[in-house]
Amino acid sequence: MGIEIKDLHVDVAEKEIIKGLNLKIKDGEFHVVMGPNGSGKTTLAKVIMGYPKYKVTMGDILIDGKSILTMSTDKRAKLGIFMLFQNPIEIDGVNFINFMRNARAALADERTNVKQLMDDIKGNIKHLKMSDEIINRSLNQGFSGGEKKKSEVLQLSVLKDVVKLAVLDEPDSGLDVDALRIVAENINNVAGQNKMSILLITHYKRILDTMKPQFVHVMMEGRLVGEGGSEIIDRVEKGGYESFSAK
Ligand SMILES: Nc1ncnc2c1ncn2[C@@H]1O[C@H](COP(=O)(O)OP(=O)(O)O)[C@@H](O)[C@H]1O
Ligand SMILES: [Mg+2]
Repeated sequence: MGIEIKDLHVDVAEKEIIKGLNLKIKDGEFHVVMGPNGSGKTTLAKVIMGYPKYKVTMGDILIDGKSILTMSTDKRAKLGIFMLFQNPIEIDGVNFINFMRNARAALADERTNVKQLMDDIKGNIKHLKMSDEIINRSLNQGFSGGEKKKSEVLQLSVLKDVVKLAVLDEPDSGLDVDALRIVAENINNVAGQNKMSILLITHYKRILDTMKPQFVHVMMEGRLVGEGGSEIIDRVEKGGYESFSAK
């Protein structure tokens, strides 16, 4: 699934955070957006998902050529857009299985086969080296930072057949080296096997040792200021974000 973001301007709490951003991701492409804290990366992810607090004041977001700006978040999810949260919220009283049953019921066309769903969840829990007991606990409640990130990747894995564009907001933050490698490998496998388009947001190079994007962009003060291939990652590593100045 392709996404095109054209001259996007976004206000949050009456302040302009995204200031004319252009980005085109063609079907099956893997793009990375890197940038310092506060540059607007999470705002970009949330505005793609259609969060009401994030107001588009100018520009457009097109999926396969059609504007999605008037679509609600659940309609966007139904189109196949998935978001992995930088800070996943804890949901008391909803366990993982019920959460995934509901998500599948809302997003997939066929009826959920519960046995198949359970097998799928358990298989992916093994791949992610998680503990089986998380499936019965309230979603993300009391999970460590690493468990929360893995729980997000588990959701992506279980929804893999309905996700066409994965927007991954810092899947690497707060992970130790082992968890980071496991998370990166699982995203690679799930996204690769299902030919997803990927928008990966990060501010560290580490995850890019395991995940190989085709296009790398740098975000500074609400705009994309650098674009290229993996040489951009080296430039960030050597010169910091300061070597890219916002226009
Ligand atoms: N809900 C919000 N209310 C007010 N300001 C916000 C909100 N969300 C983000 N911002 C502001 O927008 C700017 C960009 O934030 P964010 O998109 O989270 O950046 P990044 O993900 O690159 O660190 C920051 O200055 C932040 O304080
Ligand atoms: Mg962020």
